[in-house]
Amino acid sequence: MSATASTLITKKRHPLLGTEVRGVDLARPLDRETFREIEALWLSDLLLVFPEQRIADEAQIAFARNFGALEIHPSVSHRSSRNPEIYRISNLDERGAVLPRQSTQWQYMELTRLWHTDSSFREVPSKGSILHAIELPPEGGDTLFANMYAAYEALDTETRTRIRGLRVRHSHDHIIRQSETLSARADKGEYAELPPVVHPLVQRHPVTGRTSLFLSPHTMEGVEGMPDADGRALLDALIAHATSGDFTYRHQWQLDDVIMWDNRCTMHAVIPFDESRHRRELHRTTLIGDGPPIAA
Ligand code: SIN
Repeated sequence: MSATASTLITKKRHPLLGTEVRGVDLARPLDRETFREIEALWLSDLLLVFPEQRIADEAQIAFARNFGALEIHPSVSHRSSRNPEIYRISNLDERGAVLPRQSTQWQYMELTRLWHTDSSFREVPSKGSILHAIELPPEGGDTLFANMYAAYEALDTETRTRIRGLRVRHSHDHIIRQSETLSARADKGEYAELPPVVHPLVQRHPVTGRTSLFLSPHTMEGVEGMPDADGRALLDALIAHATSGDFTYRHQWQLDDVIMWDNRCTMHAVIPFDESRHRRELHRTTLIGDGPPIAA
């Protein structure tokens, strides 16, 4: 453990990403110095874990706003009815009843099990997300995070040269297409209209200047200018590389963990849990990015 200049006490959870941060109460306004320290840690360590933060949604929103404006999620039924900035990641409805597995709402939520970067379907993807654990299953439901700087840096020179400059098509519809149940259904839920977008496959972080892979398997349709099969094969090989285990941290949730990650250099996926027997509810606030991803 190490103490910083203020009251923050930090401890690495993983050598590549993930640092635990204690000594701050996220329910209270942040002073300038503490904000700066948290921001610097977020940029250097990619994922911060604040244990034992029993905060209300309004306090989570206020904490998140220190870092920028917040997104409203395109899926209407997943927004909190009290605070639309809260995206409810849960197998429960707002009254606490377990959603039927076949419901449209749960089928959509189940797709968080695919690796993704938040809001990669937008022209300006999210720069970071903050997630509060409110109810957890006794087993399963951990979240995996991959360090996409490290994944890029570990590629051989030939691959790096081959993929630099490539652009990838992403779309929100592609998320839905990956669920057999949802794609076969007339009622796919109520969503804001989102046209497909194109993002660089290799990006430069706008603040740190470091280079990373930009993958988001749940929205990636294909590579511009490449036959579908070749584009798919390239993306699949890069996904397998980035998620191989060498670059990933597995977050085993505790109640009232609040975690915060940088979407510009990580991706994440949820480990399945038994959603018919167990309850899982987390609330996410999602920071709007500063601009479209920058090609490296
Ligand atoms: C997400 O933000 O994709 C969900 C992560 C989680 O439920 O752990």
